[in-house]
Amino acid sequence: MRILGICGSLQARSSNLTLLHTARAMAPEGVELVLYDGIRELPLFNPDIEASGAPPAVSEWRRAIAASDALLIASPEYGHSLPGALKNAIDWVIGTGELERKVVGVTAATVSPERGRLGLQALRGTLGAVSARVVGGEPIARGPSFERELAALLGALIDAARAGATSEP
Ligand SMILES: Cc1cc2nc3c(=O)[nH]c(=O)nc-3n(C[C@H](O)[C@H](O)[C@H](O)COP(=O)(O)O)c2cc1C
Repeated sequence: MRILGICGSLQARSSNLTLLHTARAMAPEGVELVLYDGIRELPLFNPDIEASGAPPAVSEWRRAIAASDALLIASPEYGHSLPGALKNAIDWVIGTGELERKVVGVTAATVSPERGRLGLQALRGTLGAVSARVVGGEPIARGPSFERELAALLGALIDAARAGATSEP
């Protein structure tokens, strides 16, 4: 099983990127978590660009999603919503449908359990618009239960991806 890890934060020292590295280290045998760093390369979504052919970064993004069994998105909240870079990346696959019925685990690495919830709510709304199957959606706060909560999300994501694979026609 191949899970594509997407970080909603573009900063090098991102707590969400650290969460994804931790998840990659936790992945059980037979499950590969591949980090995808290409959303920073995507142009701002504009249907006019698509009309003259998808830019290479866009084609690569679409191919990476299509080649994965599931996604794991860890994203900060910016201005009570999801980061623009992540929303832009999702906008590029609305028309082409790579996220349709795709199992997508979502979380936010936060300093406390109260933070990040509006960002996750917005992210879930956007993923709902592209008919993704969302798993999780709770922030994971740093602290003693961090690894346990992350392992639970990863386990639920793997289970949902396996169930999705067996229920496909
Ligand atoms: C421009 C900006 C806006 C932010 N807006 C929010 C917000 O609305 N709500 C919130 O809980 N945190 C907000 N934060 C805090 C980030 O979500 C927090 O710093 C997060 O850990 C960043 O993730 P990262 O470490 O993966 O880059 C904001 C941070 C920045 C830089």
